[in-house]
Amino acid sequence: MDKGYLSNENFVRLDDVIEEHKEKRGALMPVLHEAQKIFGCLSLEVQQKISEKMSVPLSEIYGVVTFYSQFTLEPKGKYTIGVCLGTACYVRGSQAIVDKVTELTGVEVGKTSPDGKFSLEATRCIGACGLAPVLTVNEEVYGRLTVEDIPGILAKY
Ligand code: FES
Repeated sequence: MDKGYLSNENFVRLDDVIEEHKEKRGALMPVLHEAQKIFGCLSLEVQQKISEKMSVPLSEIYGVVTFYSQFTLEPKGKYTIGVCLGTACYVRGSQAIVDKVTELTGVEVGKTSPDGKFSLEATRCIGACGLAPVLTVNEEVYGRLTVEDIPGILAKY
């Protein structure tokens, strides 16, 4: 996996964020949120730096990062494919859509392809139930899908 996200520039930005929050109570959560925005994930390298700079044990940081589902340990792919598994989409066959995406990309839910191109996520209802089943690629929304639509959609990326 390309580690380009661990650039010096990003670490400098992280330093600034930590400086800004350090003295405040409950600083860890906002720092983790900002760090995820900067790096796109909270990999071990990022957690280590936060641990050093904030004097918070790494085990504590790791505990927080793995507890909250909004944090991610691995960098996301260039394209994040989200398949809605909300009720409306699910009953209209979104599980088959997930399976098809995995079959074609080799990426399982919650994972990123080794070349860093695709991440696959199962999402909750995104409020487009009228279009169920729904799949998103980054900001793009595709609805009323059948399994046959998937190769064509993936071919665009
Ligand atoms: S259940 Fe999928 S968009 Fe609502």
